[in-house]
Amino acid sequence: MMDVSRLTVKLFADGADLDGIREMAANPLISGFTTNPTLMRKAGVNDYRRFALDVLSIVPDKPVSFEVFADDFSEMERQAFEIASWGRNVNVKIPVTNTRGEFAGPLVGRLSDAGVQVNVTAIMTLDQVARITDRLASATPAIVSVFAGRIADTGRDPVPLMAEAVRILRSKPRAELIWASPRELLNIFQADGIGCHIITATNDILKKLALVGKDLDAYSLETVEMFYKDANAAGFGITTRAAA
Ligand code: E4P
Repeated sequence: MMDVSRLTVKLFADGADLDGIREMAANPLISGFTTNPTLMRKAGVNDYRRFALDVLSIVPDKPVSFEVFADDFSEMERQAFEIASWGRNVNVKIPVTNTRGEFAGPLVGRLSDAGVQVNVTAIMTLDQVARITDRLASATPAIVSVFAGRIADTGRDPVPLMAEAVRILRSKPRAELIWASPRELLNIFQADGIGCHIITATNDILKKLALVGKDLDAYSLETVEMFYKDANAAGFGITTRAAA
């Protein structure tokens, strides 16, 4: 029987809406938070630092990831040190390449060597996982975010790739793998099954945790009732056409 209390994978909440973050901060199942510039834009954030400090006042003691937003590595480095200074629980998200496709490994190595807890993001291949893992300092905690959901969006099963990523990361015991961009609740159990350290999911998916193990006959009946109620509420009717 599936049981949320038996999960070893840590659940993070991915989002940039302060009310949603507040709601998940009160949920004891949630161990950390991730954000990204796209989610921040959707949430209407226009003052990056103000937003980040608001999040950190809601979440003072669990990991929170904020991403750099420059495209050249020296400016990313400056932003990374600034973002890291906002709290001891901050992970600085560094994209695996810049928009020219140049590898961010050297920057990741410098930051990790300096004690910055990076979250290397937008990773989709095992080659990227291996090359980033090589650059991580053994003594500094780090996160490696593989976008399993985006991999699945291309028709590929992400599970074998994620399992291999777990194996590659063993050479840096302070590094953790995030299953990023999950598409459905089942992904939490898939991540757990391969020993992935963390999965970060939007509140929409996390709210489905209440469904884990639900009786399927009861769920089927609720679904039939939902269709019936909505058909009634919409006032649907079909008259029989008179025979020609
Ligand atoms: C993780 O840190 C990312 O913010 C997130 O999982 C991206 O998800 P998406 O692929 O649905 O945009």
